[in-house]
Amino acid sequence: MDFNDIYCENCVQFMKKLSDNTIDLTVTSPPYDELRNYNGYTFECDAVAEELFRITKPGGVVVWVVGDKIKNGNKSLTSFKQCLLFQSIGFNVHDVMIYQKKNTPFMRSNAYTNCYEYMFIFSKGKPKTFNPIKEKTVRNGFEMLVHNKGADGVNKKILKELKTEKVKNNIWSYAVGLGGSTSDKCAFKHPAIFPEKLAEDHILSWSNEGDVVFDPMCGSGTTCKMAMLNNRKYLGCDISEDYVTLAKKRLLEHNIQTNLFLDTV
Ligand SMILES: C[S@@+](CC[C@H](N)C(=O)[O-])C[C@H]1O[C@@H](n2cnc3c(N)ncnc32)[C@H](O)[C@@H]1O
Repeated sequence: MDFNDIYCENCVQFMKKLSDNTIDLTVTSPPYDELRNYNGYTFECDAVAEELFRITKPGGVVVWVVGDKIKNGNKSLTSFKQCLLFQSIGFNVHDVMIYQKKNTPFMRSNAYTNCYEYMFIFSKGKPKTFNPIKEKTVRNGFEMLVHNKGADGVNKKILKELKTEKVKNNIWSYAVGLGGSTSDKCAFKHPAIFPEKLAEDHILSWSNEGDVVFDPMCGSGTTCKMAMLNNRKYLGCDISEDYVTLAKKRLLEHNIQTNLFLDTV
């Protein structure tokens, strides 16, 4: 099996062919409840979690992006159940991050518009890589700041420089739709893509150049595309032949050849 390719298979069977401790980072999004049935394919979360744990390198990370279905006014909370399952088989729940959608249509008459999904950060032990993304601060430059408060309770002030950037917090906002999630029109033949920038931000945070980035349910190939553009090796898999064809076509449009490297798993 070669790196830098996308395979059409049930991801559990696909992962069984990979050796232990192969993958540095997984960025993926499972089917959400049976929100979209993806041509009737099934999805066994416990088997997926167990295989992911086995093939992830010590210190490797799995980013699991998931939302919940609402049925008869009741949220499924499948996201939380899946999170507890990953924890029970040995992953650390390193963080629970929020993927906020900047543009969401109004959907419920008796509740606030849902504008987010969860991004669970599971790690196999302590994460071996963290390259924090920074953002510009709103206030910066020189200001008179409180320097020391002595026992007399008097504030002394001193001219100090405020930092120009800070580490991002764990709520990440992205525009969705064409021009937001991606400008690749063909990707929208898939009903549930996540934004390229979301995949890229996780790839930059939790992996280094040359690392292996995996998406076991890669859909339109977003993770694979962003891994390759950021000089990581990628491995993709999807159960649907249509989506695998779509993902390969999308990558080719960006001159990302599949199977460019001779490295094998
Ligand atoms: C939420 S979509 C992923 C979309 C992807 N993140 C993107 O940006 O295009 C989930 C994908 O899981 C795939 N899938 C469902 N069950 C699967 C299985 N058992 N093995 C592999 N892929 C599966 C579906 O075909 C679907 O493309």
